[in-house]
Amino acid sequence: MPYIIGRMLSADRILERCESLAQHSELPGGLTRVFLSPQARAASDKVLAWMREAGMQAKLDPIGNAVGRYEGERPGLPCLMLGSHLDTVRDAGKYDGMLGVIAAIECVSLLSSQSKRLPFAIEVIGFGDEEGVRFGTTLLGSRAVAGIFDQKTLAATDATGKTMSQALIEFGLEPQAIPKIARKKGDVLAYAELHIEQGPVLEAEGLAVGVVTAINGFSRLRVTLRGAAGHAGTVPMNLRHDALAGAAECALAVERVALGHPELVGTVGRFEAKPGAINVIPGEVMFSVDVRAPQDPLREEAVATIRSQIEKISRARKLRCEIEDLQHFGVTACAPRLIAQMERAVASQGFRVRRLPSGAGHDGMALGSITDICMLFVRCKGGISHNPLESITKEDARAGANVLFAFINSFSS
Ligand code: GLV
Ligand code: MN
Ligand code: MN
Repeated sequence: MPYIIGRMLSADRILERCESLAQHSELPGGLTRVFLSPQARAASDKVLAWMREAGMQAKLDPIGNAVGRYEGERPGLPCLMLGSHLDTVRDAGKYDGMLGVIAAIECVSLLSSQSKRLPFAIEVIGFGDEEGVRFGTTLLGSRAVAGIFDQKTLAATDATGKTMSQALIEFGLEPQAIPKIARKKGDVLAYAELHIEQGPVLEAEGLAVGVVTAINGFSRLRVTLRGAAGHAGTVPMNLRHDALAGAAECALAVERVALGHPELVGTVGRFEAKPGAINVIPGEVMFSVDVRAPQDPLREEAVATIRSQIEKISRARKLRCEIEDLQHFGVTACAPRLIAQMERAVASQGFRVRRLPSGAGHDGMALGSITDICMLFVRCKGGISHNPLESITKEDARAGANVLFAFINSFSS
């Protein structure tokens, strides 16, 4: 049965709340909010208050996720899990992550205002870390919920040398309790996430929403090249071991490998040279490599080629090279039954159904290890994200929330 709705979900409130969360930033005049920061505390306090106002019981869990629960027809039923993340990249937009959390709260608020209980509970989670900016490891909040958080990660350090464990304790959390929040398979019926598309396909086709088929896999490496620092004026060019010149060649090799296949993307997003002075030959460079693809063998082969090219370039330039594997995540397929159900929800709201893959990573990648997942994309202007220019329209926020609400109502385990 189609669900005719729209009057009571407030797109104004969704957008106001995205604006409100964007005020919590360590970057004046922009938005940067990393895991376990004072700004993250302020944002999650707001989200917890909105969850309670929407009729949920809400609390921060031991990894710093904001978790709200709306009971079903009777307490303790397995849940449909909804959510996304509340952390951001540096100099971020206001919607990547936050929109999915706020739209889910808006849906629960409408159910609650109708005094409607479903044959399952709903949990909304604002994950504390998806982007991995602070500790270099992504999906920390959703991994913990999925039971795939490695306690060894607690020893990871941020740029100031503080361990994750220490940061959690200073935030008032209990790192040793993280394993306790792992959900069991039967506890979560499915995970559904609304997210901005972060690409240009929906806009190009004049569509407000799209149904995700799968999330591309990713591999992340940290490469350190060591040469010899020296005087920029005295050491002849043929006698140098310039780590930065070598790293630049490696960055171009990453680009070349990625250009070799239309479905492959490769990015060197961080590049840090030491000692970092105008008159000193760089002695050491650290750079990151991020490779993504819709098929795991394609990504794995590309990573192997990139590794061997970095080693070859280092040998030729007599640089010492260290390549660390930071993270690898395989392609996560959305469940066909949930794709079909989301498509029906899209059609019920009068939109053409469009399927598309996700090039970006999402919390669903972690949740996929305990439950079926699905995603709904909402059009964003110019396909721009990870950028302060990220923007969506009120009509599209409404369209996305209406589809999500229809999906929730039609959901059956
Ligand atoms: C998260 O936004 C990612 O795909 O890196
Ligand atoms: Mn992001
Ligand atoms: Mn995101």
